[in-house]
Amino acid sequence: MTMRKILAANFKTNHTRASTRAYVKALDEGMGAMGYEGEVYLFPPATALDRFETANDIRVGAQNAYPTVKGSFTGEIGLEQLEEFGIETVLLGHSERRHLLGESQSFIANKFAWFKERDFRIIYCIGEPLEVREEGDEAVRRYLVEQFEGIDTSYEKLILAYEPVWAIGTGKTATPELIEKTHAQIKQLCDAPLLYGGSVKPANIADILAVPGCDGALIGTASWEVESMLAMLSQVKG
Ligand code: PGA
Repeated sequence: MTMRKILAANFKTNHTRASTRAYVKALDEGMGAMGYEGEVYLFPPATALDRFETANDIRVGAQNAYPTVKGSFTGEIGLEQLEEFGIETVLLGHSERRHLLGESQSFIANKFAWFKERDFRIIYCIGEPLEVREEGDEAVRRYLVEQFEGIDTSYEKLILAYEPVWAIGTGKTATPELIEKTHAQIKQLCDAPLLYGGSVKPANIADILAVPGCDGALIGTASWEVESMLAMLSQVKG
């Protein structure tokens, strides 16, 4: 059985409410025109979350949320805000939240358990910084094992994304050999669908998706222009 690849677009702190709406419309039309049948996840900024009427399988998720229905958590959004728009997918463990915003593994594991309890699809990101990669495979394995601490690796609505920190937003993509090797290490720890992320773009996506053990891609920079996203979707084969 060949599994259809999973593509996900992470807008980060880009796009407005208006431009997200225009993007979704163009993406939906483009997917229809190419007869794209797979699912595409889209993570707009929180201010652009909405219910979108689409003919194709575009699933809007939150880039982050706080493990609460509502309450006093300044600057955060909780379940009440997500439910208003029927959001059922959340991205957790992204390296920018781990490293720029200082989210600890135990806090991320807390969020994971909370959103799992509420039946969310969770795209869970893991990946090592450069200094760990430079120490070699065993150091990478140990680092990744720690990022599974407190995480239910058998959760059926889990999708993993392996994103080496040194490849995110840097233009430096991991080689297919390195992705294959690391994905094999990760698959021994968890056999959920596994995406690769880190400078994926139209020029390299076909090679990356062809890597054995790569079930899709989580794309930042190259997903922000809808033409570029469609150029990547057009290279996805069943
Ligand atoms: P990038 O980001 O494609 O810009 O490297 C990937 C990500 O952070 O998910």
